[in-house]
Amino acid sequence: MNKNDKIALSEDVFFPLFPPQSVIPVRGEGCYIYDSDDKKYLDFAAGIAVTALGHAHPDYIKVAKEQMEKLMLVPATFITEEKLYSAQLLADNTCFDNVFFTNSGTEAMEGALKLARKWAYETKGPDCNEIVAFHNAFHGRTYGAASITNKSQSQPFFAPYLSGIQFAHFNDINSVKDAISDKTAAIVIEPVQGEGGVTPADKDFMVALRALCDEQNIALIFDEIQAGMGRTGTFLAHEQFGIEPDIATLAKGLGAGFPVGALVAKKKFGAHFTPGSHGSTYGGNALATKLAGFVMETILADGFMEHVSTMGQRLTAGLEDIKRRTNKIEDVRGMGLMIGVDTTWDIATLRNALMEAGLLTTQAGANTLRLTPPLIVSADEIDEALHIIETVLRSQDT
Ligand SMILES: Cc1ncc(COP(=O)(O)O)c(C=O)c1O
Repeated sequence: MNKNDKIALSEDVFFPLFPPQSVIPVRGEGCYIYDSDDKKYLDFAAGIAVTALGHAHPDYIKVAKEQMEKLMLVPATFITEEKLYSAQLLADNTCFDNVFFTNSGTEAMEGALKLARKWAYETKGPDCNEIVAFHNAFHGRTYGAASITNKSQSQPFFAPYLSGIQFAHFNDINSVKDAISDKTAAIVIEPVQGEGGVTPADKDFMVALRALCDEQNIALIFDEIQAGMGRTGTFLAHEQFGIEPDIATLAKGLGAGFPVGALVAKKKFGAHFTPGSHGSTYGGNALATKLAGFVMETILADGFMEHVSTMGQRLTAGLEDIKRRTNKIEDVRGMGLMIGVDTTWDIATLRNALMEAGLLTTQAGANTLRLTPPLIVSADEIDEALHIIETVLRSQDT
């Protein structure tokens, strides 16, 4: 079957959820992907901030093979060495005490909402079930996560969503104060809004948010699904703001390609999940947690986070340089290797032109180019991406 036949078949067999892509990826190696015509692409999408260790990492493959031969899955009620080790790595390297492994980010969010509501029900009263989320936030596609995702308001056909959700403005503490009440159980926020346009929170705002939650006895939940796991240059993104959330959600970079997420919480909150409160068939399976353990060991190794920060600075500085030298870039923002670029181009046209030139990227927000390369990206690969971006941007008068 040739490529066009495959694209035609895909239109027939899949739900029409995504416009068909002209590239069919076949294999990956490090920061590169090869398509069905063996064309090579520098992968600055990384599955939207997922493949932190690049593609076909030899040690990752070895660990996966060995674990598959040893033990893949047992009922989730069992402790396995792999699950225990990964949970301990999370507890030892974060401010959190309790861990529950999931298969995706959205499931971790469901767990976070349930935990916060149960904590509030039991400590503040049964009416205390409201959640404050933020405009432009993205937390996932299951009903709880979708209900705290602003986009739900433009998708009325899926209603009814969870009730008791208020939306505040990101980086605006007064709007949060207006949104809370004595019924607020939790405030949930991305430290860097990803899908919303790669917008980092202001440090002052985060400090004020933490103080507000302490003052009002409200659980503070950080969605670190995209920004966590070393992406911003610290193991978790909240470290950059000098504050600690009560509950957090992880996924994406945690498995670096294999589906695994986690809900983590301080004991004060975690203790409210009791037998029967929550669970998952696949969540915390031996294979997923073995790989998560391997990924965390790699990210936590000496020098890794410094590498992410240095590469992030190189990419940002290079983009700022292009901004100065051309009139094609309007804004560069982000943290570490999570970078958003506003340009004078239409985003779809730009991403297609970049792909044609050999660079894979993603879109964030209405018109932002998002760059989230594997965390192992090298200086040469950053420079190659910058060269492609500048060449493409200069190729059209806009
Ligand atoms: C910040 C954030 N939260 C939640 C999710 C949902 O994660 P998943 O797609 O693994 O369910 C995403 C995915 O893009 C995300 O970026």
